Amino acid sequence: MASVTGLDGVVAAETELALVDGQNGYLVYRGYEAKELALKLSFEEVAFLLWHGELPSPEELEAFKTQWVVHRAIPAELKAVLDLLPKESEMMSVLRTAISVLGTGNQQVPAWPPQFDRILANTALLPTIIAYHYRRSQGLQPIEPDPQLDHVANYLYMLTGSVPQSVHAKVLTAYLILAMEHGMNASTFAGRVVLSTQSDLASALCASIGAMKGPLHGGAPSEVLHMLDEIGSKEQSEAWLRKELAAGKRLMGFGHRIYKTSDPRAEALRQLMQELASEDPWFDLAVHVEKVAVELLNEYKPGRKLYVNVEFYAAAVMRAIALPTSLFTPSFTLSRIVGWTAHLLEQASCNRIFRPQSVYIGELPTSIPNRP
Ligand code: CMC
Repeated sequence: MASVTGLDGVVAAETELALVDGQNGYLVYRGYEAKELALKLSFEEVAFLLWHGELPSPEELEAFKTQWVVHRAIPAELKAVLDLLPKESEMMSVLRTAISVLGTGNQQVPAWPPQFDRILANTALLPTIIAYHYRRSQGLQPIEPDPQLDHVANYLYMLTGSVPQSVHAKVLTAYLILAMEHGMNASTFAGRVVLSTQSDLASALCASIGAMKGPLHGGAPSEVLHMLDEIGSKEQSEAWLRKELAAGKRLMGFGHRIYKTSDPRAEALRQLMQELASEDPWFDLAVHVEKVAVELLNEYKPGRKLYVNVEFYAAAVMRAIALPTSLFTPSFTLSRIVGWTAHLLEQASCNRIFRPQSVYIGELPTSIPNRP
């Protein structure tokens, strides 16, 4: 019998949110190429597009940003819980805990379907929670959000205490927009499955965060950084990569279930980094390693069509703006929450509980006659 693991090729829902064309290398958000949006628009504009189906007018955008800023402050009960956690707690576990705390609240608000106000509140708060716990882990005082700054610039500001260079905010915005939505990936699917039982927003988001945490999904960029640091120089690339592949190991930042050509998000980030950091020797090494790795993957895994994925150049972006490695997956999360919640709204609008089947391959009792 053919393997049924991994739901490969199974269609789990219809969606108006994103087209992920893995054969031709296109990523489309509600009718727009994601890479065009990433280079031109703000995080808030693209979130509005995914949630509401069209880009905001200037007036809508202004009102939306005002609403957004209102939700940035950490509620007192959440702060009390965050302060109880060990300072060294791993960030994705902290986020899962924080979302859970936010979801314990108000009995007056119906738990189902998910309310947009709660979605916006969770999205607006994630960067503040990350910055709060990060600074606490470093023994630093928290920095209050700056209402004058947009979502991404404010995130960097709350981490460092300095208004970021506009080029840093721009490149991070581009990455976060490209990471915002990606069809029925593992974390989105996990959230939709939970919501389909008519469970609440917080439970669905906790499931998504749990899926995102794994190294095969959201945990890859920090592994890419380690890999490039270990390789160290162009001269050592081939020998290092061969050794890993010969030992049956996976190269982080390569391969994708859907893309059987270069991931368009990686292409866009490489292009952006070429404009910003063409002189950076580490980026130069990354471009070289990509080229050698793709050749070797073709040699060691012929026919599997393994190319670079978004996480490879996400690592380059985050390194260029000096974001600590421990914040790579949390940063991916503060972006992907937009895609998750857009999917939750879509799931709620046409809900039917997910209930796939399994094939029993175990023993049968003698009382039941063998079936073909
Ligand atoms: N390095 C070496 N070999 C690989 C890799 C890789 N990165 N990815 C897949 N393969 C091989 C795998 O060993 C298998 O070989 P064989 O047929 O000989 O057993 C074959 O390719 C097919 O692999 P698979 O596990 O069936 O592929 P999948 O579709 O289940 O996995 C993946 C997709 C992304 C989990 C996988 O490519 C991988 O582990 N990549 C490294 C981790 C990574 O970069 N993750 C970030 C993904 S992009 C972010 C996102 O969209 O979530």
